[in-house]
Formats: sequence, structure tokens, C-alpha cells
Amino acid sequence: MTASISALLLEWYDVHARALPWRVPPGGAAPDPYRVWLSEVMLQQTTVAAVKPYFAAFTARWPTVEALAAADEADIMAAWAGLGYYSRARNLVAAARAVAEQGGFPDSEGGLRELPGLGAYTAAAVAAIAFGRRAVVVDANVERVVARLFAIAEPLPAARKAIRAYAETITPDTRAGDFAQGLMDLGATICTPREPRCLLCPLAKGCAGRVSGDPAHYPVKPAKRAKPLRQGTAYWTVSDGAVWLVRRQPRGVFGGMRALPGDGWSAAADGAGGRKGEALGTVRHGFTHFDLELTVEAVAGPQGEGEWWPLAKLGEAGLPTLFAKAARLALAAA
Ligand code: ADE
Repeated sequence: MTASISALLLEWYDVHARALPWRVPPGGAAPDPYRVWLSEVMLQQTTVAAVKPYFAAFTARWPTVEALAAADEADIMAAWAGLGYYSRARNLVAAARAVAEQGGFPDSEGGLRELPGLGAYTAAAVAAIAFGRRAVVVDANVERVVARLFAIAEPLPAARKAIRAYAETITPDTRAGDFAQGLMDLGATICTPREPRCLLCPLAKGCAGRVSGDPAHYPVKPAKRAKPLRQGTAYWTVSDGAVWLVRRQPRGVFGGMRALPGDGWSAAADGAGGRKGEALGTVRHGFTHFDLELTVEAVAGPQGEGEWWPLAKLGEAGLPTLFAKAARLALAAA
């Protein structure tokens, strides 16, 4: 059965592969490793729909890894604004510079893994998709498909070990990149989180999850723990049509990005600092490990080291989504 899983999936992929800007059609010429790598970094924790405009903008502005390597890190961070998980952008710069120095991408999973900031998932994906190497590529879609195929009863995250081991058994020696992307497409279009469309699935016959009668039960979710709620304040200071912006510390949340000044909500702030000005309202934002309730306060004078940024060009400041939301609130309140 395991041999026929890959054959059935590749047959399906040959007909149903999604046409995506970073891909070549199934069985086509090898794709550009730079485009594959860039897309895979962007697609971690981010949907295809959200990635598409960023991928287009990045490849138009920096068409090669050498161009990206030569760019200012601050420009790359600003262009990344809105995609989230900003450590990805910092790692992107480090890897691009190492690749440019080496004269090109390493063409094996092991070689790719040695690039700074390039993790196990990205190394496997680029090795398989760009270089045709046999590598086991497990993202959230693949995880779901494999957990269902084998009805893995263990809950996440502990199940990841078994999922990887099963994925290993079904990965073919050739066309591993098409196979990985086939599993991703199957997960995105048919083996969806809720109400999977098993009648259309090329792997339905051998799927233990389907036999169980409740495929959507897999992968088994962990018991949910409530995220802590933190509170903080962002300061909104406007003068002569410009707003006071700061640059965040290089490390930590939104490291190196432009931002509104604030009271350091990374500590479990509880409003203990007291008000400096007039509260305009609050915005909420979900981080991986906590939710944040951010009060936007109009204050008279600039806070901390920073710069006056013209309000008319605020869209070009590269503000992370949290601060873009706060700025919208402040502008609406003005
Ligand atoms: N998600 C992560 N990598 C992907 C790819 N190459 N195609 C579609 N979705 C993806």
C-alpha cells in the first residue's frame, strides 16, 4: 500500500496541482531555488493567499538571492511588515548573505541545514522541491493528511514523531518535491481541517481515518490551555502632520521594526505605569503565547529615541500589523 500511496498521489497531483507563482508545473523544469526557498520561508505559519502579494513584491524588488543579500536589512524588515513572525525575515537576510558568499544554494538537505537560520522544514522542502532530493517534508497540511491516513491516535504535539515516521515510509525516491506539494495541495483542497471531501480523495481507499468514520478527528488536538492576556500602552504623538515612531530593540518581539513607542508590554504589565495622556481606545492582538490588549494613548511629547514620520506616508513605515491597527484606531479617533 505504501508504494501505491505515492503513485496515486503523484497521479492526482499531475492533474490537480495548484498553479502557484513559486512553482513549476508537475514534471516541469527545475524551479529556481531562490524562489522556492523564499516561498517556503514565507509560507511557514502563513496562508498561500497572504503570501502571494509579498512573494510578488519581494521577487520584483529583489529578483535574485544576490540582490536580497545586498539589500539593507531594515528595508527587508519593512517589506516583511504585515506577514508576521518577524524572526523569519531576520533569518532570511542571514541565509541570503551566506548563500551569496558561497556562490549559490547548497543542493542537499544537509548542506541547506547548515545555512544560518534555515530550519529542518525549510531544508527538507528546498532539497526536495528545488533539487529533487528525497526528503521528508512535513508542514501542517502534510501533518493532517498523514495523521488521517494512518489514524494516529496520539494527540499533538507528541504525535509529530509518529507522523514523521509514517511520512518517511510513504515518501518516494523520485519526485519527492512533487509528492510533498501534492500532499500539501491535498491537505489544502480535499483533506481540509473540517469536513474533508473524502469522495474526491485519491487516497480514500487506504485511509484508516476514513475507515474510522470520523477522519476530521485526526490529528488529535491537545487539550487547549487559555493564553494569558497581557496589557500595554502605545503612545501616539502627532505634530505638524507627522507621528513619532521608534525602532524596537534588535532582539525580541518585532525586533528591529519601526513601532509606536510604548510601555514595554512584554513584562506582564497591568497598567501600573499610570496614564501619560488621553486614552483613545484599545486594540487586541494574538501572539503565539499570549494575547495583548494595547491601549493607544495620545500624549503631547515624543517618547524615547525615534523619528517624526509623515502621516501621509504611514503605509511605507513598515509597521507590524499590531501597530498598524493602533495607528488606524488613533487616526479614526482624531
Ligand atoms: N505550503 C508550504 N509550502 C508550500 C508549497 N510549496 N505549495 C503550497 N503550499 C505550501
